Order: sequence, then structure tokens, then C-alpha cells
Amino acid sequence: MPSTLKNIAVFTSGGDAPGMNAAIRAVVRTAIHEDINVFGIYRGYYGMIHDEFKALDSFSVANIIQRGGTILKSARSEEFRTAEGRALAIQNLRKHKIDAIVAIGGNGTYAGAQLLGEESGIPIVGLPGTIDNDIYGTDFTIGYDTALNNAVNAIDKIRDTADAHERVFFVEVMGRDSGFIGLNVGMAVGAESILIPEIYDDKEKLLEYFKSKNTRQKLFSIVIVTEGNKEGNALDLAEEVRTNFPYLDIRVSILGHIQRGGSPTAGDRLLASKLGYEAVMQLKQGNRGKALGYRKGELSQTPFQDAIQEYDHLDKNLWKVARVLSL
Ligand code: F6P
Repeated sequence: MPSTLKNIAVFTSGGDAPGMNAAIRAVVRTAIHEDINVFGIYRGYYGMIHDEFKALDSFSVANIIQRGGTILKSARSEEFRTAEGRALAIQNLRKHKIDAIVAIGGNGTYAGAQLLGEESGIPIVGLPGTIDNDIYGTDFTIGYDTALNNAVNAIDKIRDTADAHERVFFVEVMGRDSGFIGLNVGMAVGAESILIPEIYDDKEKLLEYFKSKNTRQKLFSIVIVTEGNKEGNALDLAEEVRTNFPYLDIRVSILGHIQRGGSPTAGDRLLASKLGYEAVMQLKQGNRGKALGYRKGELSQTPFQDAIQEYDHLDKNLWKVARVLSL
């Protein structure tokens, strides 16, 4: 049922993702256009508990669409996991007369939003802000495209030096327990091997690959390992290959947080801007408890519970194609 909103709050939580600022900007400007006051809550759930609320106007979000990180800062809050912590957060939300919330973050943020919505009765919608692309109900998350491009740009540079020295490089990418970044980066850089958490039998294939490598005269190799890989991280796997093939010249490069920084791509800015606008419009229409996203170009609204519990499976066919192309 459509509702009259006076004050909404927006916050970012969990790992920052490029495009979060574009989403904040869209929420603030849409709300102002709809005659709604907007409060930014700094440092996510931590700031909700510790009363870090600040009124935002159109000028507060000027010149941020192109900036990585988040102007509202981000944090992971243990305190919010406790009933006492959430009670303090709700007290502050009531103090500032917040009657709807936009939560921007990943699965942990959504789990918190679900509890907060149930315990406070305040309508909340979520926007998917994480580089991992591991949120059910949306084809892409805000920050994922930029992270892919950051990783690809870095690995292209690694290729130059790998080629010059005829070395094997194990490159570790982020993604927590999800292989979206690993698989798609691996495909985009033409990696010889891609190890991701979802496919468990790959170490053996990796060793087979190096056994056959001698006869195939490949000058250098790039192996992509996702950080949550079940059979070992890049350092472990490199060590194992080194032990089995001592004649290979092996190096390890862990890309780390460089993947999460920098200016968001056009794709992430557009996704964030459209979703930020929709978040306010959906709250105005009385929608709540939903994680917003886009599925095949259409706006999707997934209950928080499903967004947290369900899983979008990787395209295993892409993994097979990547193997064929690396022959
Ligand atoms: O969820 C985003 C992410 O960058 C993951 O890919 C990674 O595992 C994690 O956050 C790193 O978290 P932190 O910045 O707290 O070290």
C-alpha cells in the first residue's frame, strides 16, 4: 500500500564496492525529488547503534558518482548481532523519526536488514553492493563489473612479466566462497587454469596440465585461484606444483583489495543509479523486506530470506569453454 514517507535513511555496510556512492547519490536525489528527507547513517550498523546519523542534501552527494569506496563509510558490526545492539539501533531510528530504510551491502547486510525490519517494523529495501556477485535474485551486484575490470587490468600487466621470464603465475582473486570473479576473470584473461570453490576436482587437472605442459611448448601460464578455493589457496597450490615440477619458475600474486577500489565502471554506475532510484520509489509504494536487483533487464524484488539463503549457480559451461580456449 502506498505510504507517505517523511524521513528515510540510507547506509552502506560490509565490504565496500565501487558504485556504492552512485547508489547513495541516486537515493538522496530521488528522495529529495519526492519531498522526502534523507539521513545518511555512517559506518553501517555500527553507526546505527552509535547514533551517527547526518541529514543529507543534494549538495552532499555532488561529485561522488565517479568515486570508489563509500562516502558513508562501511563497517562490520558484531554488536548488531546482539539483541541489545539492535535495540539501541532501533531507539536511534525512532529518535530520528526514520520511517523507511535503504540498506546497501551484501548477504551479511541483508541478514541484518531482515532482523531489523522484523524487530522495528520499519520498511527496509536492500540494494546489492558487493564485488562478489554472490547475491541471489539479481544477475549482477553493484561493484562486480568494476572488480572484474580491475582484476583483468592487473593480470594483463602480470602477463607481460610472466611472458618475459617464461614463468608460471598463480594469481589469487577475491570472491569469498563464490567463483563468479574467478571464473569470469579467468575467462577474460585467457587463463590456463581456473580454480573456483564450486568445482572441487580441479587440483588433479592442474597437475595433469603441468605434466603435459612440457610437450605443448607453452611459454608461460596464468593460473587463477579464487580465495575460497576448497583445495587450497594460491600459495598452497603453487607450493604443490613447485614440489611436483621443480623445473618450473613459479610466482604467486595475490591481488587483494586493489580489486575493490577505483572509479566504478559505467555499468556499475548505471546499475547503482537505477537501483537507488527504484529503492525510494518502491518504499513509496509500500514495498518492504525486499532485495532489489535486475534479472534479464527487469527489476527484481527478492524477499531478504531468499536472497540470503538461495544461490545462483555459476555457468559451468563457461568453465568448460574457458578450458577449451586455453588449449
Ligand atoms: O565481500 C567482498 C570481499 O572483498 C570478499 O571478496 C573478500 O573475501 C572480503 O570482502 C574481504 O574482506 P575484508 O575487506 O574485511 O578483508
